[in-house]
Amino acid sequence: MKKYFAPGRINLIGEHLDYNEGLVLPAAITLGVTATFIPRSDNKIILRSATHSFSKEIFLDDEIMFDAKNDWTNYPLGIIAQLKKENHSVPAGEIIFESNLPEGSGLSSSAAVEVLTAYILLSQTESHINLVWLANFCKQVENDFIGVKCGIMDQYSVALGKKDHALLLDCNKIHHEYVPIELKDYRLVIMNSKKPRSLIHSKYNERKKECEEAFRIFQTSNSEYQNLCQVDMSQLNLLNVENLKKRARHVISENLRVKEAVKVLEMNDLSTFGRLMNASHASLKNDYQVTGIELDTLAETAQEVTGCLGARMTGAGFGGCAIAIVRETAIEELKNKVSEKYLSVTGISCEIYETQIGDGVHQLI
Ligand code: GLA
Repeated sequence: MKKYFAPGRINLIGEHLDYNEGLVLPAAITLGVTATFIPRSDNKIILRSATHSFSKEIFLDDEIMFDAKNDWTNYPLGIIAQLKKENHSVPAGEIIFESNLPEGSGLSSSAAVEVLTAYILLSQTESHINLVWLANFCKQVENDFIGVKCGIMDQYSVALGKKDHALLLDCNKIHHEYVPIELKDYRLVIMNSKKPRSLIHSKYNERKKECEEAFRIFQTSNSEYQNLCQVDMSQLNLLNVENLKKRARHVISENLRVKEAVKVLEMNDLSTFGRLMNASHASLKNDYQVTGIELDTLAETAQEVTGCLGARMTGAGFGGCAIAIVRETAIEELKNKVSEKYLSVTGISCEIYETQIGDGVHQLI
């Protein structure tokens, strides 16, 4: 019996930039999904969960298709289908998943299950797994089998995260560097809106299309641009449609903020980093329009707390989570103020917890 772990992720800054081939700065967190693998001598794979009652049993030679009835097991099933398609040997066995990562809350629980399943199955037969390849492989499963047209950020951070470091990921070159995060007296806090993210996929795909459209217009005026993040802010008036202008302004300014964020983190200037987080949230609220009353209330109430350096939504938006960097001694005050305000504005009780930056997928025992 072997045990493995894959983390969730937060994105510190650089939102909605991965599919625009820009820079993102995510980090793996210590919350995540654990799974036990028990080999079998027949040709079955059994997928179980300590968190969900639904389980699934398949034969290795079954044809596997996406089916909503398969619930959470669609993620591991997609991985198995793709491994078989690419002629990897898939071992028989039982995988039992257990998670302390809130699901559907923008912390990449689905990427964690995908990366974990692929890592477990490949580890049984291969002595070395290329984690960059693994991240791309899992992203492809999410795009093609699950049908969500996400970028590479989530699977990449789940696979390659490193304790006490953020990942500066260049989504154009698909290349990363680790940036040390020294929080000293400060802590990372996650604020979960608990708002169901029902419209997320259609809205996500709509933003993606708007960016493609804006880029197409810029490219007709300058064919050297390779992606929207490279466009100069002075070119924005080439766009006549107000919404396209707003989306492009977010993408271009957010990419500049990531560059600035890395510079100030290297100088250990957490205060300026916090201000960049606040500016990122404002841009996602006003220009990219993916926040909503829930995430705005969480982030903006946190921003008012003395001792909170910065707060912003993280992930796709439309519900999900916001994050904040808060002085340790101010966490209680932040929890009280944010919970109270959030309940009075939305009628929902939020959840607020501290988290640490942890390692990417690995074997535990
Ligand atoms: C989701 C997607 C990512 C990324 C973020 C927004 O988490 O899965 O690929 O686009 O939204 O930054």
